[in-house]
Amino acid sequence: MKRLFIHIMVALAAITSAQKAVAGIGVQNLRCEMLNDPQGIGTAQPRLSWQITSDKRNTMQIAYEIIVSSSAQKLAVNNGDLWDSHKVASGKSIMLSYTGKPLISRAECYWKVKIWTSKGNSQWSAPAFWSVGLLNATDWAAKWIGCEHGFPWDSVSKFSRLSARYYRKEFKNDSPVKKATVYIVGLGHYELYVNGNKIGEQVLAEAPTDYTQSVLYNTFDVTADMQNGNNVIGTVLGNGRFFTMRPKYKPKKIKEFGFPKMLLQLEITYQDGSTKTIVSDDSWKFTADGPIRTNNEYDGEEYDATKELTGWNVNGYDDSKWLKPELVESPGGSADAQMNAPIKVMATLDPISLKQLKPGTWIMDMGQNMAGWVQMKVQGKAGDKVTLRYAETLKDSGDLYTANLRDAKVTDVYTLKGGGEEVWHPVFVFHGFRYVEISGYPGTPKLDDFEGQVVSDDMANTGHFETSNPLINQIYKNAYWSILSDYKGMPVDCPQRNERMPWLGDRAIGSLGESFVFNNENLYAKWLNDIEQSQKADGSIPDVAPAYWNYYSDNMTWPGTYILIADMLYNQFADKAPIEKHYASMQKWLSYMRQNYVKNNLMTKDKYGDWCVPPESAYLIHSRDSSRNTNGTLIATAYYYHFLVLMQHFATILQKTHDAQDFSALALKTGIAFNQKFFNKKTYRYDNNTVTANLLPLYFGMVPKMDEKNVFANIVDKITIGANNHISTGVIGTQWLMRGLTDFGRPDIAYRIAGNSDYPSWGYMVKRGATTIWELWNGDTAAPEMNSRNHVMLLGDLIAWFYQDLAGIKAAEPGFKTIIMKPAAINGLDSVKASYQTPYGLVNSHWTKQNGQFEWIITIPPNTKAEIYLPAGNLADIKDGGKNITASNDFKYLGRDKNNMIITIGSGDYDFKLNK
Ligand code: BGC
Repeated sequence: MKRLFIHIMVALAAITSAQKAVAGIGVQNLRCEMLNDPQGIGTAQPRLSWQITSDKRNTMQIAYEIIVSSSAQKLAVNNGDLWDSHKVASGKSIMLSYTGKPLISRAECYWKVKIWTSKGNSQWSAPAFWSVGLLNATDWAAKWIGCEHGFPWDSVSKFSRLSARYYRKEFKNDSPVKKATVYIVGLGHYELYVNGNKIGEQVLAEAPTDYTQSVLYNTFDVTADMQNGNNVIGTVLGNGRFFTMRPKYKPKKIKEFGFPKMLLQLEITYQDGSTKTIVSDDSWKFTADGPIRTNNEYDGEEYDATKELTGWNVNGYDDSKWLKPELVESPGGSADAQMNAPIKVMATLDPISLKQLKPGTWIMDMGQNMAGWVQMKVQGKAGDKVTLRYAETLKDSGDLYTANLRDAKVTDVYTLKGGGEEVWHPVFVFHGFRYVEISGYPGTPKLDDFEGQVVSDDMANTGHFETSNPLINQIYKNAYWSILSDYKGMPVDCPQRNERMPWLGDRAIGSLGESFVFNNENLYAKWLNDIEQSQKADGSIPDVAPAYWNYYSDNMTWPGTYILIADMLYNQFADKAPIEKHYASMQKWLSYMRQNYVKNNLMTKDKYGDWCVPPESAYLIHSRDSSRNTNGTLIATAYYYHFLVLMQHFATILQKTHDAQDFSALALKTGIAFNQKFFNKKTYRYDNNTVTANLLPLYFGMVPKMDEKNVFANIVDKITIGANNHISTGVIGTQWLMRGLTDFGRPDIAYRIAGNSDYPSWGYMVKRGATTIWELWNGDTAAPEMNSRNHVMLLGDLIAWFYQDLAGIKAAEPGFKTIIMKPAAINGLDSVKASYQTPYGLVNSHWTKQNGQFEWIITIPPNTKAEIYLPAGNLADIKDGGKNITASNDFKYLGRDKNNMIITIGSGDYDFKLNK
């Protein structure tokens, strides 16, 4: 079926492109719920989006037609039996709600789009596809199966060891198959096989949740894997977060879900119209006595190849000694379609060195701190054991430095079966590492026996950023690797030590910067669901969600990420759904916090302060110097104010006028109380005058207008004189710092801070050999208990600033329908070359300053426009493609500010040059 569909697609695409050449206007990248050709989506009313291609400037969509058919054949003849929108006069090309015939579970939808634009119309797009998943609990006939105990070789203890469980089921196809679909929930992780073929490229599937609230299922079209006669479907279950890494350890802190379990439904339709459903139940067979002897995300995986169950997932295997699974309780949550991308091997890295440390022990360097695993080739005798241990750094002795991994053992063990080359990597664990210690390897290991496999969420890389400053480029690269390392179906804090928790505070504004680098829309939308599901009945939201660790400490800055990310998804992707869906929970959280902790209009509850400010001593994790730290009530109240303003904005978007007024009134009261308490009208200082204390009210708009300048002057003094142009903020202040300095007119200071290479700075990390971002500014010297080398939280708003203010690519309207392009003028920075894939298409911004000449190459995607700020004194000084812009109708003069001429441009490519 899938193949047939692809054939038709290719044939149609050929016809389309032949006709398309006439107009030069095309439609591409059709997405359903932001995904290309998704299987098993979790909604009957998906949102559809497309991108327009055009060889002409100023291309705006003026109308569209969408056809959705129940088969590829019908679509090919324009029979929109599910929906024919007919020609609709509208400029909307992203997030259009499907309003055709009601869709039911399992519906298959083939669709295409045609558009009319200001520059001509397109032909029909190439066809695209989506299928609907199982929308109702009653769609599931499958039963949960598992085994609620360990085996003699397992150990359910602090350092648990639990072997993987192998399940198989034979069934028969008596006639040719038309369509076969698998729906699966395998907890914590699963691998799926049909007739010996591994299905899908996903690893560590499915995405983690609080399983008592919701489990996510994955959908696969396995039509091509079916055979006539006997068939076998098989799964392997690993532990993931379901069977937690530290069971029976700190029960108040660590949430446990139980032993691995699975729900699986294979639905087959035969060509003669008959159907068959194979479901998980106690007619399956299982064993835990296979090659994966233990898999623990902190401690590692052990694989004994002498225990391989050869042929277990194909026909004819003797499973008479296998056990009967138990019918077990459901974990408790609803089964929802996974709409965020699966985790995959996203890149491979060749190690750069392999050195013998002592006889039998080797140290391998991947050249890059990364998250994933190592694939190894090895040849030896049955029973030979190779041990791989992982770490981020080395000791002076050349041994692995593992103190910062705390009690995570991060050790994989492979036992050879002998008899030829064996190739192996673990499947149910991942590690955060740059160095690998190899011991017990038979013979001499060579570099090309090993490959690093980078494991992360399969999200498109949407941004590119490069400047004339190599240090900034390296910082960006380090950030890229940390962001990549810390996506695991949820954003986690770190990939290496015994933690790897989805801490909310780490992602507050960082998520905005990340959204330029990766298409993380669906991941963050999923995470907001995790956060919502972790909310207590009274309204409290935890610091870690899913709440695998039980931290309901009640503060503004960590849980408030819930609101900041909904705002980010709206601005960056024009995704309004998170605001609609979570508004009530956010409102409930804010009222809970207000009722419990607001005194005299001040939010008195804080937990983490300005977490991880650069401390006074190289050895400290947290500063003890009160002049570096910012008052908790100040931080909490400023954030509370900011959230009230955002909620007022959300209420306005949702047309809740009354709520909007309430939020606004509360914000007003809070702002007044805040200034009364913390603002010194004589010195223009807030509280103890830290950068964070002054910056939060300034950035959030709490400072009386007439005093803004003076407050900003204090910030400038604090940085330039007090901190010698270095960073002095922690996780909180740093989220607003770079954009704050820029917005108030001192991008040069932001650039100084970004370009430092001595302590404390991101560049210091680089100079000390870091290839990722550290958890601490003094990550090379501070105590190991809290000293990860692969965290994102210290990035603050740095990446957002790179794209919005250095490249000058900023959304002025949700989803970049209007783009503001205003690169900050910075002496000493000669060029920035950046691009970003907006929902509408690619934006390019490449500016250079050379010999007094400013050149700016820009691309604006069709169906959008941009307001660009050109550093010229006169329109007459500006040329595009060698011609004066005043001679063309492509430019609309908007006005000017101190340094720039502001003009509006439509879609297309531009090459501006100005002489100063
Ligand atoms: C985590 C951080 C987290 C913090 C809050 C640390 O151990 O790694 O990322 O936000 O704790 O307490």
